[in-house]
Amino acid sequence: MMKEKEAIKRIEKLRDLINHHNKLYYQLDDPEISDSEYDRMMRELIELENQYAGHIDLSASPTQRVGAAPLEKFDSIPHLSPMLSLSNAFSEEEITSFDERIKRLLGTQEDISFVVEPKLDGIGVNLLYKNGFLKSGSTRGDGTIGEDITQNLRTIHAIPLKMKSAGTPPIPDLIEIRGEVYIGTDAFKKLNGQRIAGGDSPFANPRNAAAGSLRQLDSRITAKRPLDIFCYAMGFADRTSFQTHWDFLQSLAGWGFPVNPHIRKAENINDCIVYYREMIAKRETLPYEIDGTVIKVDSLDTQNLLGAVSRSPRWAIACKFAAIQATTTIEDILIQVGRTGVLTPVAVMKPVRVAGVMVSRATLHNQDEIDKKNIHIGDTVIVQRAGDVIPEIVKTVEPSAKDNEEPFRIPDRCPICGSGIVRLEGEAAHRCINLDCPAQIRENIGHFVSRGGMDIDGLGEKLISQMSERGIISDPADLYYLTEDDLTGLERIGNLSARNLLSALEKSKTPPLEKFIFSLGIRHVGEHISKILARNFMTLGNIMNANEETLLSIKEIGPEIAASITTFFREPSNIQTMERLRKAGVRPLEGHTTSGGLSGETFVLTGTLENFSRNRAKELIESLGGNVSSSVTKNTDYVVAGASPGSKLDKALDLQIPIVDEEKFLEITGQEVRGKK
Ligand code: IVH
Repeated sequence: MMKEKEAIKRIEKLRDLINHHNKLYYQLDDPEISDSEYDRMMRELIELENQYAGHIDLSASPTQRVGAAPLEKFDSIPHLSPMLSLSNAFSEEEITSFDERIKRLLGTQEDISFVVEPKLDGIGVNLLYKNGFLKSGSTRGDGTIGEDITQNLRTIHAIPLKMKSAGTPPIPDLIEIRGEVYIGTDAFKKLNGQRIAGGDSPFANPRNAAAGSLRQLDSRITAKRPLDIFCYAMGFADRTSFQTHWDFLQSLAGWGFPVNPHIRKAENINDCIVYYREMIAKRETLPYEIDGTVIKVDSLDTQNLLGAVSRSPRWAIACKFAAIQATTTIEDILIQVGRTGVLTPVAVMKPVRVAGVMVSRATLHNQDEIDKKNIHIGDTVIVQRAGDVIPEIVKTVEPSAKDNEEPFRIPDRCPICGSGIVRLEGEAAHRCINLDCPAQIRENIGHFVSRGGMDIDGLGEKLISQMSERGIISDPADLYYLTEDDLTGLERIGNLSARNLLSALEKSKTPPLEKFIFSLGIRHVGEHISKILARNFMTLGNIMNANEETLLSIKEIGPEIAASITTFFREPSNIQTMERLRKAGVRPLEGHTTSGGLSGETFVLTGTLENFSRNRAKELIESLGGNVSSSVTKNTDYVVAGASPGSKLDKALDLQIPIVDEEKFLEITGQEVRGKK
């Protein structure tokens, strides 16, 4: 064991390094080191922190961000000062009335100075800092008492675990900071893409995705969601001496909290209206969703004078954007059966234009949603489109003739195969239990042959349906046992297209491992996780044999994914399919098959190479399965030294790490020596 002093120094060093790499990864999107190198540092830090627990403060350590053991339920947490909400203005006239009301209350004709801000469409949270350290975090709840979601909030990298103090006003002993947790539009699209590919139902909009992610009892799941935050208000605070909200926002940024870049000072209400118009125009171009602007009186004294009525301050107002909504009627409700048997009710509506797009279908999600919104076929409803997200039914227009009737019910039998339907405990979704349900087969095989999977041309949805209805195929392996006769017996398939299809199938027999894994449609295993599995396990056999513990040792793989993978490969019918695929000659290529495989080897580069830029050398090593690290440790396998090497070379000599020159590096990586550039 290291001496305590030494260990503590090492802990500090590792924390700094990890914080530095977190910033590169999460904020600048420009990582310098490989995942495995990062994991190695994290593991070392966790180990040391465990060894020296009791001697060191963990509260601001990056290890606190990875998520903790699941909770049974959320505790309640009282806010030190209530979390108010905002009253709304829906037009420029109402904004003007807000200003007039304030002037009347203050008995003045003078212009009022305001701060204007975007109104983020996310989830409001309260963060409590004690002596600069994040102590707890909660939802708004009823405004007085919220739910304790500290574990989840800690996983959000944009939330400081420790406030910065240099060059800022002194940090109060106790301060509540308020902000909005959200998911950006790009991250939302990516997240939904992964969910669809992994067989999960997509979130209806970024706000729901953020809310769902924050309400996870297992914070390791939250840690994987791309949550972000903007902070905009102060709750309780002792010893602060801000004169204006603007000054507070500046300090907030100085303390290390993300503050929205579009905040602005306004000299009078006219400026606020101009800003409101500008933001309406800018709305679609922002990388996150906003549903309005907020106007706040700038002077904190004036705010105090004005006070609050019925849980909304008199000194602020939300200027809501006109919703992108329209009214139409539900003509029918269809039930779609997905790859994993989930039944999704879909409303078929009289086509209507919503923000320039004709909309005729909207997902109703599940029975709970239908019940909550009291939906019937024939109802008149309001539909809404947020950005380019799936249209959604907001509510029925009341009164409806059917209000007293039971809402639409998802049938007891699968509309496709007639089998029974179950609703698993804790799940909102109903599922068809028949694994041979033609709808599931069609979706499953469609996924298997898709571009991201086995990438087999010529197998469209219609053809797959036809084959599954006739009982020619019921799982992906059947595709490889098709004969020309099977195919020419189908509608619209001639000899030529039959032969083309068979040859496409033949050609697909040696897919890259990650594509093969993806094609299996294992729940929660989308393209990204498939790549990670291929990279870490190299062969299909290794993945099939991996137990949950081994899977969980990989950073991106949490308990849900690990359980889903092991369950999949334990299921007898899946084992049989895999065996039949193998017998048919389907052999996925190994993870990174190259002659000079560098799998698991860690390289450090120093000095200038003649034939490669740093980046190119790094790419090359990584393409061969190796890692590149920025510092030499006892775990380094090779130091590649070019001209004018730095101190890393001395370190390598100290630690007796093999040092290779450029020529040797070319040899290891199987490159031909090229002429000098
Ligand atoms: S200030 C006393 N500023 O909107 C005022 N709220 O409808 C406290 N929100 O509960 C809130 N962006 O969750 C404020 N720039 C912003 C905001 C904002 C979004 C949310 C917040 C609040 C809700 C009020």
